[in-house]
Amino acid sequence: MIKPIEELLKDQDNTIAKKEISKAQQVEGYTSDAVIELIKKSLNIHWQQTTVLTAQAEHLQRWGYKKLAAIIKEDAIQEQTHAAINIKRLEFFDVDYQPLILNPPIWKRHDMVAMINYNLDSVKEASAAERATIVAARSAGDEITANIMIPLLQGSEDGIILYEGFLKLIEQMGLDNFLSIQV
Ligand SMILES: [Fe+2]
Repeated sequence: MIKPIEELLKDQDNTIAKKEISKAQQVEGYTSDAVIELIKKSLNIHWQQTTVLTAQAEHLQRWGYKKLAAIIKEDAIQEQTHAAINIKRLEFFDVDYQPLILNPPIWKRHDMVAMINYNLDSVKEASAAERATIVAARSAGDEITANIMIPLLQGSEDGIILYEGFLKLIEQMGLDNFLSIQV
């Protein structure tokens, strides 16, 4: 027997209502607003790192520091991957992360020590945001966000080791010698 049109419309309304409930249920109670804001912060830091490191790699390449340029270029790609991981999680929660506003502090060209310190500050900022996200996610019972954030934190800590190591090398061998091994 064919259902009357009124009944079909009612069925459709019920289906839409059910879909809205299930969509809300998927996101609600899964995490906290604090976690969402921290993921957005991590995303912003990673976009800044991606743009800055991409530029620095070309800058270093242009001036002949090919070895360092290769390391920085690889880092730029890693930070872009981290940005995508943050987006993937925000998409899971179905929250908007736009408009994208990027306003990284200016880095100084032709000044190796300033560039290293700039990058060190950036990975330290990222590490602080990632640690805060892990703590907030765990307290909200959002283990997956905490787990997702761990490789990002590992990347930031690797960055801290890299840039602190560069500063130590410069201190011990002098800037000129450091530059000579980056060619
Ligand atoms: Fe990262």
